[in-house]
Amino acid sequence: MFIFVIMNYKQINLNDWELQGEGAFGESYFSKTDSSIMLKLMKPEGRKEDIIAEFENSRKIASVGFKTPAAIELVEESQSGRLGIIYEKVQEKISFTRMIHDNPSDLPRIAKIHAEEAKKFHGINCDPTQFLCYKETIRKAIPKLFTFKKYKDILKAAIELVPDSHGCLQYDFQPGNIVHSNKTGENYWIDMGDFGYGHYLFDIALLYMFTNILCTKKSVQQIFHMTEQQLRAYWVEFTAAYFGRSIQPDEMFGKKIRLHLAMAVTIKYHMIPAPGPIKYLILNVMLRKNLKGISLENVADIMAAKV
Ligand SMILES: Nc1ncnc2c1ncn2[C@@H]1O[C@H](COP(=O)(O)OP(=O)(O)O)[C@@H](O)[C@H]1O
Ligand SMILES: [Mg+2]
Repeated sequence: MFIFVIMNYKQINLNDWELQGEGAFGESYFSKTDSSIMLKLMKPEGRKEDIIAEFENSRKIASVGFKTPAAIELVEESQSGRLGIIYEKVQEKISFTRMIHDNPSDLPRIAKIHAEEAKKFHGINCDPTQFLCYKETIRKAIPKLFTFKKYKDILKAAIELVPDSHGCLQYDFQPGNIVHSNKTGENYWIDMGDFGYGHYLFDIALLYMFTNILCTKKSVQQIFHMTEQQLRAYWVEFTAAYFGRSIQPDEMFGKKIRLHLAMAVTIKYHMIPAPGPIKYLILNVMLRKNLKGISLENVADIMAAKV
């Protein structure tokens, strides 16, 4: 016998909300009647599981120990059936990307603040029984990848050399996902749907992807409100503050970051809004780019590289 469980979400009407902005995966709205809340609504083509997962993750991270807006309620837009999350609104917020757009000469200062916040964030251990372990998730994904054996062999060797860590990972780590409140003077981590734990170089690698690879794409520049040059400069300034010196993609430590990115994308490419074969193609382009100069023979040396 089948048992159907019908979820009833609180219904909302968009007449009560004012559109604020559009991100890659949804729209944000401010309430017309309650200045303490905001709404993040998924796009029509979005997957319900993703927004439910973001809500559940956002609820659980409330006690981990970094500043993040409280997730209040999962809601459904009555007209379209799209799901959304009502969050506590960060008052007088401005994202780090918007700050750079408004005041380009501030880029080094903002990248440095982000790096300092990130070092604290990556240094917080979270409860491994509650959250996703990225090392394990990647390890399981590698054998199933639609790619060449030589790439799989490199990735399999590399993932075993990643130190175990319970440190926090945002896993969508970039300056659009941290906002400053001009009211409280504090910074808040947002967009925590992919939150989990693991080695901090996975987050750094994802920042590398936005600032050195995807930075050439107009759509990415639009979402970030930043030019290609600004995105590239962000990497230089961020790494200088995070590691004590800027990291070049072709030095040993740069290869280590690219290798982490190759590992990181093995579980991210399914989110690309394109048909299956295109996704595989993009995955393979990313792997080829990031594994340049890396072979099974030098994986151990690269993974041992120190900054
Ligand atoms: N709690 C919040 N308070 C105020 N603004 C927020 C809050 N959460 C998100 N935003 C705004 O909404 C935008 C999109 O949010 P985000 O969670 O990053 O969505 P996406 O998944 O589309 O990237 C952010 O740039 C930010 O300006
Ligand atoms: Mg975002």
